[in-house]
Amino acid sequence: MTERLALEVTGLAVSYGIVPAVIDVSFAIEHGSITTIVGSNGAGKSTIMKALTGLVRPAGGRIRMFGEDIAGAEPDELVVRGVSLVPEGRRLFTTMSVAENLEIGAYRRSDVNAVARDFERVLEYFPALRGRLQVLAGSLSGGQQQMLAVARALMAAPRLLLLDEPTIGLGPAIVDTIAEIIQTIARSGVDMLLVEQNAEMALEISAQAFILERGRIIMQGRSSTLARSEEVRRAYLGV
Ligand SMILES: Nc1ncnc2c1ncn2[C@@H]1O[C@H](COP(=O)(O)OP(=O)(O)OP(=O)(O)O)[C@@H](O)[C@H]1O
Ligand SMILES: [Mg+2]
Repeated sequence: MTERLALEVTGLAVSYGIVPAVIDVSFAIEHGSITTIVGSNGAGKSTIMKALTGLVRPAGGRIRMFGEDIAGAEPDELVVRGVSLVPEGRRLFTTMSVAENLEIGAYRRSDVNAVARDFERVLEYFPALRGRLQVLAGSLSGGQQQMLAVARALMAAPRLLLLDEPTIGLGPAIVDTIAEIIQTIARSGVDMLLVEQNAEMALEISAQAFILERGRIIMQGRSSTLARSEEVRRAYLGV
């Protein structure tokens, strides 16, 4: 049964000191679709992402990724197992070139030919980066930096891509571009978990969604259904 699932999170709990940030969170991601977690500021979205990538240690619960328990796995090992994070705030190496940032994304891979193919492929996804390979990442526009952050994560050849607020602070046109690319990547067979504070785009491109409030999942269902819910619309769609 579990092979059907890219990710299965059961009763996840994470605390910072004695302060709980994520409480009894359970959800599953099926292969071949985009899943989103929507929640306001401080809801615990990034904490879930960090638990999934080994950056924080859960206080309780179970995480199965591609059918295997990942409890206690280190970030490096999880990258090799196929999970890659586009972190909140991008975390680019701003004083290094675009090309170097992409190369760093592939640092755990040894198949030079496959890495070269993926380098070409991410430039096809993000043509704006092609002419800027030697430019410092820090001198790119906000939208281009976000594209580079996604491209760098793809250079790890993930099976599961985690995106932590990839469109925050960006204008509508660039949000559309990034949303389209996220869908293209998903169609190429990469499973996706998208975390967003602004629910509009997230609910539009995802199949299923979870609403997180103060560390707990309070609603879940098909994204199209949640997008029509009065409660969700009022709280997260500003209508
Ligand atoms: N390193 C930390 N130490 C202590 N508390 C933290 C730490 N990181 C997050 N928190 C707290 O944990 C809770 C969840 O934070 P988290 O960053 O996961 O929320 P979020 O949903 O990603 O919010 P945002 O939309 O602002 O990114 C918040 O109350 C936050 O203040
Ligand atoms: Mg966050």
